[in-house]
Amino acid sequence: MAVFSFPESEVDRILSWTQDRILNGPDPTHGAQSHAELEPVLGGSITEEGMGADAAFALFTETIVPSTRPFGHPTSLSFVASAPNPAALSFDAALGATGIFAGNWDGGAGAIHAENQALRWLADLAGWGDQAGGVFVAGGTLGNLSALHAARSWKDQRAPRQGRPAILCSKEAHSSIAAVARVMDVDLIEVPSDAAGRMSAEAARQAYEPRVFAIVANAGATNSGAVDDIAGLADLAEDHALWLHLDGAYGLAALADPGTRPVFDGIDRAHSFIVDPHKWLFAPYDSCALVYRNAADGANAHGQSGPYLDVVDKTHWNPSDYALHLTRRARGLPLWYALATHGTRAYGKAIAQTVATARAIADGLDAMPRVERILGPQLSVILFRPTELSDAEMDEWAEIHRRSGALLCLPTVWRGEKVFRLCIVNADTSADEVLSVLRSLSRE
Ligand SMILES: Cc1ncc(COP(=O)(O)O)c(C=O)c1O
Repeated sequence: MAVFSFPESEVDRILSWTQDRILNGPDPTHGAQSHAELEPVLGGSITEEGMGADAAFALFTETIVPSTRPFGHPTSLSFVASAPNPAALSFDAALGATGIFAGNWDGGAGAIHAENQALRWLADLAGWGDQAGGVFVAGGTLGNLSALHAARSWKDQRAPRQGRPAILCSKEAHSSIAAVARVMDVDLIEVPSDAAGRMSAEAARQAYEPRVFAIVANAGATNSGAVDDIAGLADLAEDHALWLHLDGAYGLAALADPGTRPVFDGIDRAHSFIVDPHKWLFAPYDSCALVYRNAADGANAHGQSGPYLDVVDKTHWNPSDYALHLTRRARGLPLWYALATHGTRAYGKAIAQTVATARAIADGLDAMPRVERILGPQLSVILFRPTELSDAEMDEWAEIHRRSGALLCLPTVWRGEKVFRLCIVNADTSADEVLSVLRSLSRE
């Protein structure tokens, strides 16, 4: 008998709960509880004897899950939410059962080959050739770090350093870029953006200093959805032999929508990009596709060696060579499965649907008295403000609707002013339903 015996009935219970959750989605009224609320229930749940499967799973379904934010719900329009489709979610559950080691080809050949099909689709959308490739990492932060480390190695091989290395990016760059700069111990040169939140090539050119080794362009800024002038920044990168990285963690999913794709013109000349399937590509957490136009640039900077790794077949594609990691799950496979199942056209349509929903919500806001649209939609982000509500009243309104499950719409700050922000990544979000909640802001 196995050391850890677990009855089939308990496996059934977990699988049947999983099935129900995939088919019915999260409960929109769920949300974080305080430590004081959780501790009496979860504190002490690890004991010498164990509490048994029933009790432990009940803690999961009755306490843990209800105390989490239902990002996957169509009314969840804050931060950059997530909208995993049932195919990707179901497959993720199956993947979890396989325990595939996808750090190197020896461990995960089939899984890696399939993940690479999904990366190929993304590289094709960018117009990149056969040399392109990369890896799925846990999130955009790690993807940005891995790309920018590759950028610095690449630059170091081409030119001696001229002072303290620096990354040039927009003031609107995601917080992860500042975090990456701290980890890499390099400076950030932050370029002011225009009224729409875009970094122009001209502003970047003015801010450029010879110590810069990479430009990070927003391909969908988190706060505003703005896409920087990628083509102009590619010119600047070419003029000074700089690496151009696109942070498309949120926005680059829209490459799949032919109607939106032109905003990314110039991407074919970038050196790397990231896009998170767990944001706008309908895959579950956690997954970020990191793609290099020339995969060898990633491999030159990354990869680990050691006597215990010498047995690994180096002639094949080893995902651990392309980012800062070794062991990894095949986290790109749920995207692969859903793409293989539905086809890429369905993805383009779903993205276009969210863009259309954002447009319809923006139009609805324009028709409302006492509500001012501030910016957007850019990609699928809209900023707006109720003109007669104080900041405190905005907070209160957001909290009431979050708690009721009607809408997760939280404030952000734009140009020093508190505004509401919507970011739509769920193809099932209904503009009419959202507008019916937003109307309460206009006190009609
Ligand atoms: C533009 C952008 N870059 C990077 C990130 C970081 O991604 P992650 O949260 O997956 O680390 C985010 C997250 O929202 C983002 O919007």
